Amino acid sequence: MDDSLRLQYLDAMGIDVWVSRMPSEIPQLPAATDTPISNAIPQIPPWDLLQLDVANCTKCTLCETRTRTVFGTGNKNADWLLIGEAPGQHEDEQGKPFVGNAGQLLTEMLRAMGLSRETVFITNIIKCRPPRNRDPHVDEVQSCNAYLQQQLAIIQPKIILAVGRIAAQTLLNTDMPLAGLRGKVHNLNNTPLVVVYHPAYLLRSLSEKRKAWQDLQLAMQTIKKSED
Ligand code: URA
Repeated sequence: MDDSLRLQYLDAMGIDVWVSRMPSEIPQLPAATDTPISNAIPQIPPWDLLQLDVANCTKCTLCETRTRTVFGTGNKNADWLLIGEAPGQHEDEQGKPFVGNAGQLLTEMLRAMGLSRETVFITNIIKCRPPRNRDPHVDEVQSCNAYLQQQLAIIQPKIILAVGRIAAQTLLNTDMPLAGLRGKVHNLNNTPLVVVYHPAYLLRSLSEKRKAWQDLQLAMQTIKKSED
């Protein structure tokens, strides 16, 4: 009995018959190649990946009280890297560093050096606001340190400005007072580092503005020397 007649009989008896499809109808998998699957997935640039990591960070308890993380803003290929202490209330709300009154003064300080916020990169030691703007705790600084190190590795600045005492002491791993740290060029993993007054402090002590200008001049001379 030929196949079609057999199928008609079975059909008449109410018996479902499953007919195998021809091999040509089966979707074909592409031929195996040596290309790893990861290559087929669009690669996320390290800087973007870092931003994602920071935005989703839960490494310390500051993630429970923050509104937004503050990764930093500016040019990721900048010669100048400014590192402050931690976001305050306005920074926490806007997700950007130095946006309050102190931030405006920082913008003016940059302008006095012929720089703008777009040409430098500005960030903080820690990326989340400590409650009531208290000083960052050691464990918070340690948790956040890997992010700062990755920022440094990608930006590779020609000079680092440590903005204020806490940033300076943390970066230089010292508890020396600010007076002993400013006025000289430090070295952070082969990158010159100059300590400058925090603009929030300068807003309270305008008499120190002259010294602040000396710090900025030292920074400008230092970067100029590195370019000669
Ligand atoms: N103070 C800082 O140290 N960083 C900011 O982003 C704002 C104020």
